[in-house]
Amino acid sequence: MCGIVGAVAQRDIAEILVEGLRRLEYRGYDSAGVAIVDAQNHCTRIRRLGKVQELADAVNAANVSGGTGIAHTRWATHGEPSETNAHPHASGDIAVVHNGIIENHEALRELLQSRGYVFESQTDTEVIAHLVEWELRQSESLVEALQKTAKQLEGAYGTVVLDRRDPSRLVVARSGSPIVIGFGVGENFLASDQLALLSVTRRFMYLEEGDVAEITRRSVTVFDGQGQPVEREIIESNAEHDAGDKGQYRHFMQKEIFEQPNALKQTMEGRVTHNSVIIDSIGTHAKEILSKVEHVQIIACGTSYNSGMAARYWFESLAGVSCDVEIASEFRYRNFVVRPNSLLITLSQSGETADTLAALRIAKEKGYMAAMTICNVSGSSLVRESDFAFMTRAGTEIGVASTKAFTTQLAAMLMLVAGLGRQKGNIDAEKEAEIVQAIHELPVQIESALAFDKAIEALAEDFADKNHTLFLGRGEYYPIAMEAALKLKEISYIHAEAYAAGELKHGPLALIDADMPVVVIAPNNDLLEKLKSNVEEVRARGGLLYVFADEKAGFEDSEGMKIIKMPHVHEITAPIFYTVPMQLLSYHVALIKGTDVDQPRNLAKAVTVE
Ligand code: M6R
Repeated sequence: MCGIVGAVAQRDIAEILVEGLRRLEYRGYDSAGVAIVDAQNHCTRIRRLGKVQELADAVNAANVSGGTGIAHTRWATHGEPSETNAHPHASGDIAVVHNGIIENHEALRELLQSRGYVFESQTDTEVIAHLVEWELRQSESLVEALQKTAKQLEGAYGTVVLDRRDPSRLVVARSGSPIVIGFGVGENFLASDQLALLSVTRRFMYLEEGDVAEITRRSVTVFDGQGQPVEREIIESNAEHDAGDKGQYRHFMQKEIFEQPNALKQTMEGRVTHNSVIIDSIGTHAKEILSKVEHVQIIACGTSYNSGMAARYWFESLAGVSCDVEIASEFRYRNFVVRPNSLLITLSQSGETADTLAALRIAKEKGYMAAMTICNVSGSSLVRESDFAFMTRAGTEIGVASTKAFTTQLAAMLMLVAGLGRQKGNIDAEKEAEIVQAIHELPVQIESALAFDKAIEALAEDFADKNHTLFLGRGEYYPIAMEAALKLKEISYIHAEAYAAGELKHGPLALIDADMPVVVIAPNNDLLEKLKSNVEEVRARGGLLYVFADEKAGFEDSEGMKIIKMPHVHEITAPIFYTVPMQLLSYHVALIKGTDVDQPRNLAKAVTVE
């Protein structure tokens, strides 16, 4: 999705803006641009289709100087990816960048055309530039002009406005798309994601819905939706400065897969003793709330949805609490019934997914006993708008394909399940200790799964020339198979589907032939014998089987069937363990196919528009 960076400083800020955009590249984009004003009120606007590097080259070649500027990476929604449609958009002396979607842009375009404005682009954003230009003529300040403009906009936006005639300030509005202000010494910054600013500051302030702010070198003044001055909290970020570096790894996705042992350690730190969950670490009032919970409703999208689907098995089988999991984009448009004493849980890496956020806002009106989020980004909208947040602490995830966010969400939910089950009296101290000990073993287990990297790299050759892949699992391994299929399709562009293995004979068996690799996740659990029958169903039809099996599960290589023998791990945490070889498989297939692993085509990291 689009990214925004802005700065008001005394020094030249071109490099800071471009570096900020680089740090937002992971979010997905198709074009980039900057507008920078120098002390003589000269504004240079440069836009390029393609990578930020092309913009950087153009900015260097133009030798741009100036201390006030805005920059943007665009992910096309209205109008094709092109230089003309790239931001910043201009109207007279005004330049604007915008994240989000202006839903009433057509009506506003007609209105502005009737006032004589000529549109250069096909974007919805250009209406903001012309509206501000118009309103400024009848306002006393740029802030007032943006406040008046904001009242006319419908939809979601985070937008920043620059006036060439007054480079001492930027003004910014937030409604639906995050904006963070970064505080420097004698200079201030803003961005759509704090990651963009970590090279210049660690002190941040998140704007709230409806806020409009004015930023100068020495001040930040925030007004709420009613135009009243308000104070917003300034936080000190502990995000890693080098989160934007790949280090020794070829891709962020690879780095993030290998970071999982450490990410899991962070997730559990201070939350478990050697044999129990520290219930207060789940959130203020968690003890009181969890003891009353009779139902859990999970809402999420994509990978986060898959982790919810897997955790559902734990909520019901371990904590003895019924659990529903639903895709946020469906939930938000459905007339749902809230069961008594239901806990709402949103799951999200970014905390900014538009559908999940909208679902949370709707659900909060409907009488859930509490809204909890399990999220990876502190200060994000989901964290701020939920009653309590359980942070996954996976560290910044940059690869579009979510990896460590998934496994840490699962670990966080397992801790929650243990705590919930204990509060409900459905888990005794012995069972809680067993779960917690399994959680403690996770980092080492995941290291052992990562050791299969080379073996999986070799296996990947078999998949790279295929058009389809089927993933099979039973029980909680069905959602793990769903996640494996999602990973493969998003980064290798191979069509992949997941099936609950018991469903094979109800349709998908018709797909089986020698061109259809079938990946089976086969832990040594109660469903093993059932799963073996499903494997036989595929074998009998000439399918190509790749079975990731517990070493004790009794599978052996045979014609048409390759067995990847995995070490035996605790049954409770095995779904997290088996996720890792699936991630490695997708990664290596994508490498062979030569796709853009970290920024797969058409996808964005944080989906902040509907
Ligand atoms: O930030 P979130 O976890 O809310 O994002 C939800 C999905 O957009 C995300 O998981 C997406 O499916 C990933 N690209 C999957 O790898």
